Order: sequence, then structure tokens, then C-alpha cells
Amino acid sequence: MDKLDELQNDAPGRIQAAATLVELDAVESETVGRKSPIAKARRGLGAIEDSTERAQTGKRINDVAVAITTQIGARRSVLEANEVNAALEADKVDVTLPGRVPARGTHHIVQQTIDEIVDIFVALGYEMVQGPEAETSFYNFTALNIPETHPSRHESDTLYLNYGDSADEVLLRTHTSPMQARHMEKNDPPVYIVVPGKVFRSDAIDATHLPVFHQIEGLAVDNNITFGDLKGTLAEFARQFFGPDTRVKFIPHYFPFTEPSAEMHAYTKGRWIELLGCGMVHPAVFEHVGYDSSVLSGFAFGMGAERLAMVRHGITDLRTMIDPDIRTLEQFR
Ligand code: PHE
Repeated sequence: MDKLDELQNDAPGRIQAAATLVELDAVESETVGRKSPIAKARRGLGAIEDSTERAQTGKRINDVAVAITTQIGARRSVLEANEVNAALEADKVDVTLPGRVPARGTHHIVQQTIDEIVDIFVALGYEMVQGPEAETSFYNFTALNIPETHPSRHESDTLYLNYGDSADEVLLRTHTSPMQARHMEKNDPPVYIVVPGKVFRSDAIDATHLPVFHQIEGLAVDNNITFGDLKGTLAEFARQFFGPDTRVKFIPHYFPFTEPSAEMHAYTKGRWIELLGCGMVHPAVFEHVGYDSSVLSGFAFGMGAERLAMVRHGITDLRTMIDPDIRTLEQFR
């Protein structure tokens, strides 16, 4: 009997002290399991001769066993709930946290400039077309009325892929103007196109030269196109690109494929800056592509993307345009 008293006294404390389900299982087998004082007491019942005493003892054993089993059940519910909560806590995803934003790239300043210029002309009704970077001498020079003897044809100025017989000479185009001829050859007038693209010249890199840079060519051919149309169109472009108060002036120049030819300068940031070459399409170019120069007229222009980006952003060294330093690139997001 004193064993049962002892059990009845200390079982509640041991059950509460069990911190895990495993510990509680151990307490269970020690208190009501097969080798417990309860099991032993039950096995001793048969030795009690007096039936009244045997019944009383049996009831006493049962009461203690039921009380302990009930407490263990209650404790088990608490521990199980704790374990579920701990697992949920450990697994929890905080949906209110901001996401991890990957570092984002951006278009290069030259591409941004090209896109912006092309957009201005597209809004004026021009179509964007592109042409090959490897070009024949015919389209790069001959179709543009550039004579066989012209110095720009020399290897010192032009990067040739196949140099020799002018009929099948292949070179890296030195300007985007060959697309004037290519486009007119394949399309009937009217023509309103802009042609962005890479161009190549045999130049060493310095503050004002790159062997690879970008141009945006423009060509408008229709009935009755005048030099006034050229001036109005390019002045409008300058106002949209540099700001509504931008003034422009046209200075006589020479290109074999336009006549008359001019350079357009713009007054921006307190000084006059040369922006582009332009002129009225030379009749010889129309002849090369089978356009009737007695009824058609047109203007063409070509501008350097790097140059316009530099003027716009006040950059003075052309090499900034090919600087891969992330600190440079990040300034032009
Ligand atoms: N192709 C000329 C250049 O590269 C620019 C130009 C284009 C001039 C069209 C007149 C007309 O310098």
C-alpha cells in the first residue's frame, strides 16, 4: 500500500515535468506500465484471502491507475499541441516580407539615344529599317555617287573584308547611307525611313574617334520635297531632342550623294555644336536605284548616336561610350 501512496503523491509532478512526448511515454510505463507498481500490486491481489479486503484493494489500485492515466492523457494533449505549434512556427513563411529584387539591367546610353531618336522620327511618320553591316563597295560607295578615286575608299579609311576587284569587294559599312540605295531599289516612292545601325572606320581609339560607332540615317523621297522640308524636319527633331528653344543653323558642306549638302549645327548648352550631315538626294543616286529624278525629290541625313548622346549629357570623351565600368553605366539608367 505504501508504494501506491507514494505513486499517487509523486505521479502528478512527474507527469507535469515530462517536457516531450518521449519523456511522457517513459513516465507512463514507469507508473502504469507492465513493470510498474500498479502492475505489481494487481498481480498481488490473488494472494489476499479476505474477499472484502481484496475488493477494496482492487478498487484502490484501479482508482490510482485511472487518475494517473487521465493526467497522462491530459499532458499528452498539451505536448502534442506544443509540437504541432513548434513545427508550424519553424515552417512559417512571412508573406508580408518584400520579395528579393534581382539587380536589373538597363539599355546602354547609346541604345537609349538611338531609341529616342528613332521614336521622334517614327512619330513624324517614318518607318525604321535596318541593313547589313558587311556591305559591298557598290552600295557603300558606287550607288551613292562616290567616285572610284575617292579617298574614303582607301584601306586606310575603310575596313575591307574582301579587298580587290571593286565588283565583289566587301567591307564593313562606313556609314548607314548604303541603306538609302538598298531601300529605294526594293520599294516604290514615297519613302520615309530611318536606319539606325553600327558603322566602322579604320580609326585608332582616342577622345574623338572610335573604329565602331552608330549612326541614324534618314531618307524622305516624295513629290515636291524641298530644302525647306529638310530644314523644318531636322529643326523639329533638334527641338524634340534638346528642348523646345533649341536653335539650329545649316552650313554648306559637301557629300557626293546629296546636292546641295549641309551640316546642321544646334545651339545648346551655350554653344553651337555640329549635329549631323544632310542634303537633297543627288539625282545620280536616284538613277542608280531606278527612280525618276525628274518627278521625285528628297532629302537625306545622317547623325552619330554617340555624338548626340555626348552633347545631350555633356560628355567630352568619346571613350566614355565604350567604358564597361558599372559606375559609368549606372549613371545613364
Ligand atoms: N553618310 C554621311 C556620313 O557618314 C552623313 C550623311 C547622310 C550626309 C545622309 C548626307 C546625307 O558622314
